[in-house]
Amino acid sequence: MLGHTKSMLRGIAVAAVLLGGSVHVAVADNPIIQTLYSTDPAPYVWNNTVWLFTGHDETGAKNYDMRDWRLYSSTDMVNWRDWGVMMSLKTFSWAKADAWAGQVIERDGKFYYYVPVTKNSGGYAIGIGVSDKITGPYKDALGKQLLANGGIDPTVFIDDADGQAYMYWGHSAPYYVKLNKDMLSYSGSLTSTSLQNFIEGPWLHKRNGTWYLTYSSMGSGGNEDIKYATSTKPTGPWTSKGTIMPSQGKSFTNHAGIIDYKGGSYFFYHNGALPGGGTYSRSVCVEKFTYGTDGSIPKMTMTDAGAPQIEPLDPYTQPVEAETIAFSSGLTTAAKSDGTGIYVTSVSNGDYIKVKGVDFAAGASSVDLRVAAAASGGKIELRVGSQTGTVIATCAVDATGGAQTWKTVSCPVTGATGKQDLFFKFSGSGYNFDWWQFKKQTAAAV
Ligand SMILES: *[C@@H]1O[C@H](CO)[C@@H](O)[C@H](O)[C@H]1NC(C)=O
Ligand SMILES: *[C@@H]1O[C@H](CO)[C@@H](O)[C@H](O)[C@H]1NC(C)=O
Repeated sequence: MLGHTKSMLRGIAVAAVLLGGSVHVAVADNPIIQTLYSTDPAPYVWNNTVWLFTGHDETGAKNYDMRDWRLYSSTDMVNWRDWGVMMSLKTFSWAKADAWAGQVIERDGKFYYYVPVTKNSGGYAIGIGVSDKITGPYKDALGKQLLANGGIDPTVFIDDADGQAYMYWGHSAPYYVKLNKDMLSYSGSLTSTSLQNFIEGPWLHKRNGTWYLTYSSMGSGGNEDIKYATSTKPTGPWTSKGTIMPSQGKSFTNHAGIIDYKGGSYFFYHNGALPGGGTYSRSVCVEKFTYGTDGSIPKMTMTDAGAPQIEPLDPYTQPVEAETIAFSSGLTTAAKSDGTGIYVTSVSNGDYIKVKGVDFAAGASSVDLRVAAAASGGKIELRVGSQTGTVIATCAVDATGGAQTWKTVSCPVTGATGKQDLFFKFSGSGYNFDWWQFKKQTAAAV
């Protein structure tokens, strides 16, 4: 499947180049994940980091074909680290299909992942994954459904005022229930509420004493739009506040996720903007916004640019995972067989990774690349500015003894100073890339 993604994405990227569309593909930071088709963003701010949980459309799907849930993280809103698969349909022995929109929330040091699936016996249900770490692994918390009959797209929020947790969900009609402190059971009845033209994808959040319920609705362009409503209570009644994002783009569905992070507000959604994209091959995007003084959320349109970078990336202090990506072309990622992390793989001629806003300060003298290669012949060029920009280092990737036998290659660097977009440009194939780290020029050398 991933192999298919790769060749398909590269094929279309190449087509875009031939049609003069390469600039669009190369400079965009939206969609924010390019190594596969990602859906249903559920961002969560925890430990000063944005954790972006997503669904995943299988490449080449002719209908909704979704089998696992993924995690990405960022501290600058443009470079996103891939954490791989958090859960799959196999996590729930009672589930057979439809790994649709879920959301993670933490309580008392545990992470709860609410997801809808289709049961082996048929019909939608909501289950819960649980983990001691936000990065998983998540296991089936109940061994059965939380809601056995009906229900998709759960969204969960804990009221900061009294610690009460609420879950909304639904298709055609929105429902809510109060979750107990254990986050694994509920009290009271499943209650329906009213939202203008609600289809699906509710997202519940609270800001400055106001509750917001954002959701997918029928848009005028034939695709879903995103509307929202507010209330003084988490249980409504809800007052319609209009459209946040109009019907746009090449995907029938859209799905919202909203957070505040480091003083900014961010609206996540999905569309069909990646090469090969459409209704069954969606991609997560993000826009930055500012609430009105009355607490309103402004109308936004989908952009290629995405959110601005919050702070530059430090290339010196610690290794940066190779799967930390602002934009990429061609390549994919995979999980190490021993479960110790994710690496970049399936590289071939012309593939690249863009890392945005890397601060080289007074200058770099060398770079370490952690690679594994079954055979020699690979080469990684490091460029700044663009994928055809100035070459600051060229590193040969020789055989390391196997595709999972990791070695550190050190290469001299020249001409890397100040804040730059860094590009890793790959040639050859059959090698893997785990992390990179620059060394500063010494004062004497400067
Ligand atoms: C929180 O983030 C810091 C900085 O990235 C990290 O060192 C620490 O391990 C994280 N804490 C937990 C509990 O994951
Ligand atoms: C919070 O709401 C109050 C009114 O309810 C308003 O005066 C204040 O400006 C709001 N704060 C922010 C940060 O929007």
